[in-house]
Amino acid sequence: MSAHLRPILGAFAATCLTLTAASTAVGQAQTFRPGEVWVDTDGKAINAHGGGVLFHEGTYYWYGELKEGRTYLPMVNKGWGGTRVVAGGVSCYSSKNLLDWKNEGVALPSNAQDPTHDLACENVLERPKVIYNAKTNKFVMWLHQDSPDYQAARSGVAVSNQPTGPFTYLGSVRPNAGIKPLNTNEHPITGKDASRFNRDFNGGQMARDMTLFVDDDGKAYHIYSSEDNETLHIAMLSDDYLKHSGPFARVFPGRKMEAPALFKRKGKYYLIASGCTGWDPNPARAAVADSIFGPWKELENPCRGKDAKITFGGQSTFVLPLTGKPDAFIAMFDRWKKWDLQDSRYLWLPLTFNDEDKPVVTWQEQWTP
Ligand code: GAL
Repeated sequence: MSAHLRPILGAFAATCLTLTAASTAVGQAQTFRPGEVWVDTDGKAINAHGGGVLFHEGTYYWYGELKEGRTYLPMVNKGWGGTRVVAGGVSCYSSKNLLDWKNEGVALPSNAQDPTHDLACENVLERPKVIYNAKTNKFVMWLHQDSPDYQAARSGVAVSNQPTGPFTYLGSVRPNAGIKPLNTNEHPITGKDASRFNRDFNGGQMARDMTLFVDDDGKAYHIYSSEDNETLHIAMLSDDYLKHSGPFARVFPGRKMEAPALFKRKGKYYLIASGCTGWDPNPARAAVADSIFGPWKELENPCRGKDAKITFGGQSTFVLPLTGKPDAFIAMFDRWKKWDLQDSRYLWLPLTFNDEDKPVVTWQEQWTP
């Protein structure tokens, strides 16, 4: 062997070692076991609650609430049992196969220094979602930002050049101040709706549980529980995804839809959501529409199998279409542990469609995507 080849062979040997190490980690989980403790590639419990997944350039990024530490019940939430842990920020994990998750650290940290900051540890930071903007080449995160008693009801936005962060926090908003919805013919704003809607008309509408959706034409939408959680809003974002652009619809007035997850299949829009019972489970909701702004038609509870009536003890957070696998979706739910929130579990289940094109989520003890 000539001397000048040795470094190349040396480099190859090092790469092989790396590959061997990686392939030991790959397959650690092998299957999804909904409700069990899921560990990352370091063997630590995955901490990404109320989350969502972004698929970007061959890698899945899972973002969620970092819930670490003791669960407590703030005095202000005693009436309705709104337990809390201090806000840890938004965690990020990456995976190539959806089974082996590498902890990429905290993509958006909470703020331990400034108690007046939106991201202060005492505040609520929930349901973060990240989308990629192809025009600006930036990753945009929106989340539910709130005061400890959930009365601020705002949406925070952050941006990053990389999927794993760090994300720069830009601030929070109550969406669509001074703007009338598109669909007042379908859902006239009357009675209690009118008092709620008009109360917040100038200052911006309440925004709590939320998700994001990017359509085939690149337009992005922010879907959030509004008007004291009575009514869901679907609002178009600006081209850079950093603001609301104006058009929005009020959907399911008075139905108290929470935990929204929106996705598209064969040209139709589908929504999976929950009712409004705090951390306690309730029957899942499903709905379909030809246009994102509606009209939306509610369908029956999509869940099947043991405990389907209470969403298997879980609450929806996201539906992930599997790129490259036509008609394959993962429905993601959180099974909250109200008195030990950091140990809340993940229920990821296959979402399929029946002969009537209605979504169905069937319980599985374990399965592989
Ligand atoms: C749920 C909501 C969660 C969290 C919880 C607090 O209804 O979906 O994201 O806000 O209430 O009790």
